[in-house]
Amino acid sequence: FAEDGSRLWLRYKPLTGMQKEKGNTFSSIVKDERSATLDIASGELSSAWKELTGKDISSATLQDGSIVIGTTKSKNIRSLLTGKELKDLTDDGFIIRSVKKGNRNYTVITSAEERGILYGVFHFLRLVQTDSFSDNLNIVENPKYKVRILNHWDNLDRTIERGYAGYSLWKWDELPNTLSPRYDAYARANASIGINATVLNNVNATPEILTGAYLAKVKALADVFRPYGLKVYLAVNFSSPKELGGLSDSDPLNPAVNKWWNNKVKDIYKLIPDFGGFLVKANSEGLPGPQDYGRTHADGANMLADALKPYGGIVMWRAFVYNPSNEDRAKQAYSEFTPLDGQFRDNVIIQIKNGPVDFQPREPFSPLFGALRDTQEMVEFQITQEYLGFSNHLVYLSPMFKETLDSDTYSDGEGPTIAKITDGTLRSGKVTAISAVANIGEDTNWCGHHFAQANWYAFGRLAWNHRLTSEQIADEWIKMTFSNNKDFMNPVKDMMLSSRETTVDYMMPLGLHHIFAFGHHYGPEPWGDVPGARPDWMPWYYHNADSTGLGFDRTMSGSNAVSQYFPPLNNIYNDIALCPENLLLWFHHVPWDYRLKDGKTLWDGLCYKYDTGVRQVRAYQKLWDRMEEYVDGQRFREIQSKLRVQARDAVWWKDACLLYFQTFSKRPVPYDIERPV
Ligand code: GCU
Repeated sequence: FAEDGSRLWLRYKPLTGMQKEKGNTFSSIVKDERSATLDIASGELSSAWKELTGKDISSATLQDGSIVIGTTKSKNIRSLLTGKELKDLTDDGFIIRSVKKGNRNYTVITSAEERGILYGVFHFLRLVQTDSFSDNLNIVENPKYKVRILNHWDNLDRTIERGYAGYSLWKWDELPNTLSPRYDAYARANASIGINATVLNNVNATPEILTGAYLAKVKALADVFRPYGLKVYLAVNFSSPKELGGLSDSDPLNPAVNKWWNNKVKDIYKLIPDFGGFLVKANSEGLPGPQDYGRTHADGANMLADALKPYGGIVMWRAFVYNPSNEDRAKQAYSEFTPLDGQFRDNVIIQIKNGPVDFQPREPFSPLFGALRDTQEMVEFQITQEYLGFSNHLVYLSPMFKETLDSDTYSDGEGPTIAKITDGTLRSGKVTAISAVANIGEDTNWCGHHFAQANWYAFGRLAWNHRLTSEQIADEWIKMTFSNNKDFMNPVKDMMLSSRETTVDYMMPLGLHHIFAFGHHYGPEPWGDVPGARPDWMPWYYHNADSTGLGFDRTMSGSNAVSQYFPPLNNIYNDIALCPENLLLWFHHVPWDYRLKDGKTLWDGLCYKYDTGVRQVRAYQKLWDRMEEYVDGQRFREIQSKLRVQARDAVWWKDACLLYFQTFSKRPVPYDIERPV
């Protein structure tokens, strides 16, 4: 085994004891259809089996112990499963079933789609890797979302915006002629967790991506990804007709602009017949958009949607919009998009960040979820840890993703969680999708931190099934990536599960947000002030520390952001006594001597939160030090040294924030916490 993390969770450790005996009862891999995808599926099975058991099961003879793979149209499958059984499948769903026929036992893996077979094969292998397989399997799995998509913020010069794992995987200068083996490895890893779509380039898109030369490169990648079921999408710059096509403007109501997009889309589909569609960041952070011409987001999105429609493509139009103005930044996306509800085409979906500001360690969910009733909505998460310690801090993000997905919006009384609104359960839409900004780069271990791989993994698993618990996902990932020894598993799982809250504690507890250093967003800079810069990019805009207290007043007497939430949430958030304490300073400007639920004053409570965060990271270090015997030397040491950085950073956050806020609170730091220096 490579011990450098390059194999991700796809490590097929030799089975032992009973598991090995079970593994040995499998004898061959049988398929009666031919395709590149099926070859990948059978190749994965046979090479995995070799590693797991030492046994060669690549022979294709149907015999006792065969693993039979195929689509629901395959003759073999039809002879082993009834039509009724196959009816349970939707989209990329799969069935894994142990079937007895005569005196032979078979394991059947089938799906209506070829890529579903691949998902079934990887699921089956996951059961083997995690000690949970048997010869009596009866599994039907259907994905919750149709489009499960990664957003790469990769630039054409191979830098990655907010990327912390090296340069981009895409070697644009070598493409289309030279294909890196990592393209296959990337697609395989995504297939193993059910991710079926990828946006290759940064949302801050340059028009150049749509030139013939780049489209040929994109086609080369799409050709590699296709057999793994991975569709390619592109982020586009709204001004492309003007910048690239030489038109006088990019007004969506200008027929020449329409024509330009129609032709461009036609060219793309000629090269990539299964091209997925466009992701658009428009009129946001200085990028061009339809509002430059007095048009709306709907005008812009619909123009692109109409161009893509004949080919089945979609538009993911981002709701991440805000401008320096008197309106609270947290309110602006809602204000801009709710009046447009119902005006978007049915192949447009609005892509909304989980929170109303920007991927903070903790935010309330975006009030847009549920508020758009006649418009399709999807969540955008951020896997790359822009605001969570980059690839230096161990932060397991599944609990954060779940916090959003499981939030009840109360859009129609109790029950409409964000998961149910976006997965089509409560709002029927043609497109259902879920996205996340990737944390993948050229680093040998893909994500910069070995534990950051768990976040790519968790996103894929939740996109497939948002009902999985963070604990289940961590359990699987640890077993596959490291070890299934309980003495390793249990403490490491506890560390992962608590890590997000720990990070919130040492960075921004009690609802504090956006007090990062300007520009890079790594360390603390609550005092930051750049003369002449946009106020909504300054930390004081968010923390509002003064001699009376701390926090952003978003109540009815403040910015009134609370009014964007459905009752009873608007009232709960508005009332300082009811507001969840972990969002207190998000919604309220709180006096320094305000009593928290545990009786501490706000100031003391804040001090203890920062201190708890620091102590927790130190506890992680001690815990990890005890794990040496279960982990290979390389990964053990690399994680150990990352934890050292994290502990140092946690102290930095605590000291910086407490010393700064103390200049306003003018109160002493409680005697039993470590002095800030
Ligand atoms: C954040 C991030 C930017 C990014 C933007 C976006 O503000 O810092 O780098 O471009 O989000 O999501 O569009």
